Amino acid sequence: MQFQLFIPGKNWRLSLAELVSFLKAKTVKFVVFSFSREFFVVSTEEKAESSIIDALGGTIKIGVSAVDFPTEIVNRAFLQKDKEAKAQIGREIVASGLVDAMVKGESEKTLFGVSVYCAERPFRSISKIIQRFIGSFIKSEMSVYGKKSRFMGFARDRKLPQLSHVEVLKKNLVENKAEILFCIGRERTFVANTVAVHDPFQFQKRDVGKPVQRKIFAISPRLARIMVNLAACTEGKVLLDPFCGVGTILQEALLAEATAIGVDINGWCVEATTRNLKWLKDEYALENAEYRVLKGDVHRLSQKIGWEQVDCVTTEPDLGPALRQVPTTSYALRVTEKLEPLYYGLLEEANKVLKSGGLLVLVSPYIKTRSGTPVTMEIEEKAVDIGFERVYPFKRKHFARDASVPENLLAMASLVDAERRHKIGREIHVFKKLSEKDREATLV
Ligand SMILES: C[S@@+](CC[C@H](N)C(=O)[O-])C[C@H]1O[C@@H](n2cnc3c(N)ncnc32)[C@H](O)[C@@H]1O
Repeated sequence: MQFQLFIPGKNWRLSLAELVSFLKAKTVKFVVFSFSREFFVVSTEEKAESSIIDALGGTIKIGVSAVDFPTEIVNRAFLQKDKEAKAQIGREIVASGLVDAMVKGESEKTLFGVSVYCAERPFRSISKIIQRFIGSFIKSEMSVYGKKSRFMGFARDRKLPQLSHVEVLKKNLVENKAEILFCIGRERTFVANTVAVHDPFQFQKRDVGKPVQRKIFAISPRLARIMVNLAACTEGKVLLDPFCGVGTILQEALLAEATAIGVDINGWCVEATTRNLKWLKDEYALENAEYRVLKGDVHRLSQKIGWEQVDCVTTEPDLGPALRQVPTTSYALRVTEKLEPLYYGLLEEANKVLKSGGLLVLVSPYIKTRSGTPVTMEIEEKAVDIGFERVYPFKRKHFARDASVPENLLAMASLVDAERRHKIGREIHVFKKLSEKDREATLV
């Protein structure tokens, strides 16, 4: 059994949902041992390839745990200032082999870093103290081996003692096994080695480096990748985006080694997506990548694509007009009402073009209002009428038997991605097309 640590991006629920869906689609046997907004501990039968970081839009770092012990010891060491508990942590780190791995590096002086992640608040306020202790301890251990080392610090105003993925990348800390993750969970604390970090430059290249861009309407490549993973889109599958815009979702589908089909009502978008996908294929040397981009209206999708042709439909339809200020509830309701025919058309047609069991991942608007209660679209009832079933992001079976999983997480039907500065956020839904047999069973 291998414990792996995943450090999520800003929206931890979205990151966890993506990770679970990705591992499931890749038929990896896994169980989420524990989770918090700061880190997830996942146990897998075999160590997952560190290259999976490039396939995940919502994971910042992956670590492999070298040792774990009860958080009670960390509590005694740093909250109760117990010297023996501190010494015990030191002994655990020595026994883990993490220092040996760094000593083996070829450079004369090893640069290393320590990042501390805390699931619970009391440790957060003293996390800089914990980080300095671990750093000094490792430095003195390295000198025992006769190895010079430098402990990577950061600006005083940094809130939490955590190296950013860019810092880890720039200082080659993954290659040198030189970033230690000290992850303090509610029950257990894990000390790990970073084995992979998210490369923001690659995602940035696909965002602002592609030939045709459309800033206001386009989704980010990271969110597009998360949606592709929520759709269980793996190698050899066929993914359709019927509102493809400039092709951001399709780019990520091609990188997941799927066949991509794009449709848009706007001829300019068809042209733009075609250019962007050609660029991606050359830039990433995807010799076998297959794609088609067609002009068409979502209401006639099945005539264009044919029935039961695709494994996943992953898409972001229009989200309504851009808003200068947070609207009133009645204005927001008018916006969603106006969008209904488009969304209902999508549900009808997606159900026809999807193979049985195929997934539809779609974004609908999440409009903030002056009253404080957001306005969203009621699409579940219509989707169920048509023959879909909602897929909940989190199921009890994904978590370890003794992991504490709040009921409200399991009851969460959709995922929301809304930054503070946005007036309209995105609500992300996953629906599964039921087979005729399953449908009949639900009607009985
Ligand atoms: C929010 S944008 C999608 C942006 C896309 N995800 C991207 O990253 O570029 C919605 C797209 O839907 C297209 N569209 C609007 N109504 C449509 C319809 N009835 N059928 C097909 N496409 C439509 C628009 O032209 C627009 O490009």
